[in-house]
Amino acid sequence: MDAQALRDAYVNFFVERGHTHIGSASLIPENDPTVLFTTAGMHPLVPYILGEKHPGGRRLVDFQKCIRTGDIEEVGDASHLTFFEMLGNWSLGDYFKKESIEYSFGLLTDVLKIDINNLAVTAFEGEEGIPKDTETAEFWKSRGIRDDQIFFYGREHNWWGPAGQTGPCGPDTEIFFDDGRPKCGPDCGPACKCGKYTEIWNNVFMQYSKDTDGRFTPLRQKNVDTGMGLERVLCVVNGLKTVYDTSLFTGIIGKLEELSGKKYGDFTRPFRIIADHLRASTFLLGDGVVPAKTGQGYILRRLIRRASRYMSSLGMEGVNMHKISEVIVSEYSDAYPELGRNRDLIFAQITAEEERFRRTLAKGLKRFDEMVSESGGSGELGGEAVFRLYDTFGFPIELTQELAAERGYSVNTDDFDSRFREHQEKSRSGSDQTFKGGLADAGEQTTKLHTATHLLNAALKKFVDPGIQQKGSNITAERLRFDFNLDRKLTSEELKSIEDYINEIISQDIPVVCEETPYEEAKKRNAVGVFQDKYGEIVKMYSIGDVSVELCGGPHVKSTGEIGCFKIIKEESSAAGTRRIKATVG
Ligand code: SER
Repeated sequence: MDAQALRDAYVNFFVERGHTHIGSASLIPENDPTVLFTTAGMHPLVPYILGEKHPGGRRLVDFQKCIRTGDIEEVGDASHLTFFEMLGNWSLGDYFKKESIEYSFGLLTDVLKIDINNLAVTAFEGEEGIPKDTETAEFWKSRGIRDDQIFFYGREHNWWGPAGQTGPCGPDTEIFFDDGRPKCGPDCGPACKCGKYTEIWNNVFMQYSKDTDGRFTPLRQKNVDTGMGLERVLCVVNGLKTVYDTSLFTGIIGKLEELSGKKYGDFTRPFRIIADHLRASTFLLGDGVVPAKTGQGYILRRLIRRASRYMSSLGMEGVNMHKISEVIVSEYSDAYPELGRNRDLIFAQITAEEERFRRTLAKGLKRFDEMVSESGGSGELGGEAVFRLYDTFGFPIELTQELAAERGYSVNTDDFDSRFREHQEKSRSGSDQTFKGGLADAGEQTTKLHTATHLLNAALKKFVDPGIQQKGSNITAERLRFDFNLDRKLTSEELKSIEDYINEIISQDIPVVCEETPYEEAKKRNAVGVFQDKYGEIVKMYSIGDVSVELCGGPHVKSTGEIGCFKIIKEESSAAGTRRIKATVG
């Protein structure tokens, strides 16, 4: 069974049982500022688990792209991945434990043809006033699962969530594939790391919400949230040893063999790291993230740079990374059409970042070796040296740590952190002074963001209130920030209309026209930014079709299509009566 067949089988099974198939959401969470990425299929559904009505109804199914970055350094072994896909089905206040377990059992044994003897399941042992989940065990037994296949664990193993610091969570029942080997010892069970058991599916009974004080409040509705790891299940149903042996990776690894002239079997770890990191990077770029010094863009930069270093270790200095990304885009764009739509942007960004890093990699490595010898065998690299590698050579701190570890060295991260903070503060105050006009630099990205700011200004007037006025604007290479007068939070519908509208204007590729015109003329045309009479003056005015006319110094893109894709990442209060929107483009 290949990946698409598994996605289809899963979705169809649940659609036949009354579920609505919903699309995969972006890797950038819309509803949760406490995490960088979408880490589970339930993440984009949090508002609905909390009780909002979902347009698809109370039964949903999907496959969702996810990224978890906690174990980047572990990638390269048989199972860790940064990017993965999660198949999931949800009941939003509809069915609960009984049907959830029946459905899971049916899919695993009837559709995926897993032998019942290869299954093992877990349930919540009970802890902190929440009782033991014997009900779940009984439902499994009613399907023919024996007592010796059922294991009870506490919160550490059988409790899921919340995804960020707050939100829905609850006890779960996890389903494992038991490969049939004898137990490694008397305590061997699904929680054992010996490899006998592989977790394939998690059914969470989301009954609680954790609040900022750490309290658990019962939810108004009882929900089911399930998540099945696509890569792992492909492994299990095809009798394969590692996720990298599945059809999801054979094309990427084949391309790497072709381009490097080396065999995967001889260089397993670097091959896996490159394949994993470029898969994650391609998807992040496809969702509009661009390499940057902080936030999501920093993780992307780390992934691309780490992949680049491993490519060098395979002698692939002359190979363009986007050649591997091309394989990923072509293999995944049926399931994730945004990759196809954004392919040019993905390749351009990955190439630009690769070039930026390659220009300094050799010098940086040389400097790194000098630092090691200068340290006089102390076993530790000081924060100043590490900060220089970061600032001058673009080495993510984690890369330096990894290089250091390879030589038996550690890195003084506390010292690095304080230098990093000091640097950030300096550059923040520097940019506040230098960029009173709000535009941090005239690079390509900031230009796009600048035009996007005009579109946002227009969209706010159109969808929220014609009286909205700009109260402040600040643009960095990563995002725009726009403050405006309003004394309430925007609704999610308003945010969506704004985003959709701006993306529609982008897709129409409307020319951005700059005119130098007398002030009176600008006033007649209702240009935004006409605050006071400047009689007789010639002003610079940018117009975008009939969408926006604004007095402005520029620079702007030539036509809206260049912006690529517009995404709101945050809407929050900035001061009394002032709201703030942060958004990205790409
Ligand atoms: N949220 C649960 C998980 O990530 C089930 O989807 O495992």
